[in-house]
Amino acid sequence: MTAHAPPPHAAPNAASERTERWWHRATGYQVYPRSFADSNGDGMGDIPGITSKLGHLSDLGIGFIWLSPVYASPMIDNGYDIADYRNIAPEFGTLDDMDHLIAEARERGIGIVMDLVVNHSSSLHHWFQAARASRDCAQHDYYIWRDPAPDGGPPDDARAAFGGPAWTYCEEVGQYYFHFFSPAQPDLNWQNPALRAEIYDMMRWWLDRGIAGFRMDVISLIGKDVDARVYEEGPDLHPFLQEMHREVLAGRDVLTIGESWSVSIETGLLYCGRDRDELDMVFEFSHIREGWHPELGKFAPKPFDLVAFKRALFSWQDLTREDGWHALFLSNHDLPRQVSFYADDRAHRRPAAKTLATVLHLLKGTPFVYQGEEIGMTNARFERIDQYRDLETLNHFEEQIAQGVSPEAFLAGANRNSRDHSRTPMQWNAAPHGGFTTGTPWIQANPNFGEVNVEQDMVHSDSVFAHYRRLIALRKESDLVTFGHTVQLMQDDPDIIAFERRLGDERLFVIANFTAQDRERELPPELAGQADCLVCSHTPRGEIPRFLRLVPYESLAWKL
Ligand code: NOJ
Repeated sequence: MTAHAPPPHAAPNAASERTERWWHRATGYQVYPRSFADSNGDGMGDIPGITSKLGHLSDLGIGFIWLSPVYASPMIDNGYDIADYRNIAPEFGTLDDMDHLIAEARERGIGIVMDLVVNHSSSLHHWFQAARASRDCAQHDYYIWRDPAPDGGPPDDARAAFGGPAWTYCEEVGQYYFHFFSPAQPDLNWQNPALRAEIYDMMRWWLDRGIAGFRMDVISLIGKDVDARVYEEGPDLHPFLQEMHREVLAGRDVLTIGESWSVSIETGLLYCGRDRDELDMVFEFSHIREGWHPELGKFAPKPFDLVAFKRALFSWQDLTREDGWHALFLSNHDLPRQVSFYADDRAHRRPAAKTLATVLHLLKGTPFVYQGEEIGMTNARFERIDQYRDLETLNHFEEQIAQGVSPEAFLAGANRNSRDHSRTPMQWNAAPHGGFTTGTPWIQANPNFGEVNVEQDMVHSDSVFAHYRRLIALRKESDLVTFGHTVQLMQDDPDIIAFERRLGDERLFVIANFTAQDRERELPPELAGQADCLVCSHTPRGEIPRFLRLVPYESLAWKL
């Protein structure tokens, strides 16, 4: 058992007969280290920078940080390409800095959840360096190698997620290796028990340093069968997760969140169902994919469809009503800024940012805040491709331009959906580069930092930060918010999200206008009457009327 955050009383919870865990009432906060706070002026965020901002996070009330990778890495994919799992990238600091961060965070009741990237390593990891030099070393089989096809080409025509073929030839050994992402990220061969033992050992090593758990990168890929061309949720996924649980996690009061782009409501409880002994929850993306073009993908997004979005969101509320648990998020380092994607980041930025939070934080599950979301940071809207840094955006630009897409059309898609929008520097104040660095940032700051920044938001009467703080505190205090089950209302309404949470006799009613116009709705008669307004984006109202008129992006939550 680690001693990161004080686990609250372990009490069986009436709603699900599940023992309460410390993370049930906690809110997570994702830190993308290279863009959070730079302590030494090299233009790159770092671990001492994060430690210096713990006051901000503790003020917000979060229970744990999900820390994107800080390990030694050539940074081809900003750290999601790890060259040494037991060391820190020098640009981010040292292991001592990491231990200091863990200890300082623990002092404030904040756990550190590390990113575990074990579907693949960096091609610079010493395992791969040995593996590519000879077929006769133990590490060769730590990766996935296949002989060339009879014509000397790759074994099949699988494509990599970041563009190009998924197989790269290695002359020294006369074989191709498999990489789901870029050639710099060779996939690890989970079929090899010695490799799995190395990973489990490394995980224990981090847990023994006092971290609070792991967010597991693209974890559904580890059970793949490349010969059958089954990559996601392959036949060995769940046996491997159960083994990992037995070997590493059993008996430790830590949190595990798996990232999965393939999990569905059919497979969700296989990961996090009661008695599965695998993970605590999964990040699933059905509500996110809803915003993507069905054939052309994320760089050609389609207009936002609230009804389809609600269908995806609430299907997971239904799934986890009695069993399992859900990870709630709208933003992360791979996604655009939520206020830009789902709402209006100009005329209605503040209310829209609050309303997105009202809805997400009052659902059942563990909510995650992505850095900057708590002050309503927006997409950057770059004008030229050379302002982007993300390899996914840059590779897809090249591929799509070669296929005849115009640069303007690609940039329009990238300005809506590129991963770089969430990676621009955190905006702390109105100083150059938003106070993120005294040097030159690795990626340009969003030009709106003078107007959108932490200092400015905190003193604003309409503070987005204060709204988040209220929601985060409410979850800690309220069994209804934490454990109540969710009942969706107005499913087919294209403009409104409305739902109830119910626990015993207690009821919470939440309603939000997702448009830039006023909207009036007739409410069910049993809801009308005096009620305690717990949360509002504009002004509180002490009564639920029969006919409710909401101004643009207004949201309210009442306890009945
Ligand atoms: C998912 C991570 O969130 C993303 O940033 C990364 O590029 C891929 N996995 C590959 O590790």
